[in-house]
Amino acid sequence: MSFQTLFTKMEDHTLIITINRPDVLNALNKQVISDLDAVMDRVYKFPEIKSVVITGAGLKSFVAGADIKEFESLTKEEAVAVAKRGQAVFSKIEHSPKPIVACVNGFALGGGCELAMSCHFIIASESATFGQPEVNLGIMVGYGGSQRLTQRVGKGRAMELIITGKTINATQAMNYGLVNYVVPQTELLDKAFSILSVCHEKAPLAVANSIRAVNSVWDDTLSGYETEAALFGECFVTEDSKEGIAAFKEKRKPHFKGH
Ligand code: COA
Repeated sequence: MSFQTLFTKMEDHTLIITINRPDVLNALNKQVISDLDAVMDRVYKFPEIKSVVITGAGLKSFVAGADIKEFESLTKEEAVAVAKRGQAVFSKIEHSPKPIVACVNGFALGGGCELAMSCHFIIASESATFGQPEVNLGIMVGYGGSQRLTQRVGKGRAMELIITGKTINATQAMNYGLVNYVVPQTELLDKAFSILSVCHEKAPLAVANSIRAVNSVWDDTLSGYETEAALFGECFVTEDSKEGIAAFKEKRKPHFKGH
């Protein structure tokens, strides 16, 4: 797998995706968005990829936002199209059937914070900084930030962050419930692997359907309870569910086969 702006590496069935534009603090230009779209197609398709970590190159930044230089002369229609394209790719990340963890290794600003929030959960280094500073540029969040930040931290905190453009550090992000863990920079990936290796032991359909069920809370077109019930039912036609239940009764570890 090779991409212009991403570095990818497989480790223990986890695909590590590193956004690799360190000279501009890994800012998201059109090419990064396009590469993320393409790599996600592979994540969906290849069974050997059981989970994903997204991080940024270097020690300073996860992603410092959309590439501001590409915003210089956008028309209104072009700006709408840019937002819709970013939203579609981030939605593909959010709806991935395989767990995706953001390992935030520094600045997660603007589109960077939005990218982290499109992942299933976030682990931050002690040096991480989060924020939606778009208002400082006379613009606003456009890659889903108004929705996902509100979902994650509640209306009051999201509103304050988005309309002031202020940033928060890793400890504050933890207190807000935006991140699951804060660890030293050198332990970021190990922390992600320790959690993902637990998910890898579970039945893949049970994990995929759980992700869909949690995401359905925010899908206005569906009733979350109905979706959960339907997905719960789907698990019961799998061999893995029979194996999991039998293993419990027999007091042994289950051997899941992925179907
Ligand atoms: N888009 C394009 N380039 C960016 C960028 C972005 N979002 N964020 C940083 N860069 C570039 C800078 O222009 C600079 O490039 P240069 O060396 O060619 O001048 C380089 O990355 C390093 O950034 P710099 O500002 O010198 O680093 P810093 O440590 O002084 O400040 C930040 C770091 C993150 C506080 C600052 O870069 C910043 O405010 N970035 C924009 C954040 C933002 O508004 N994001 C939302 C965009 S919609």
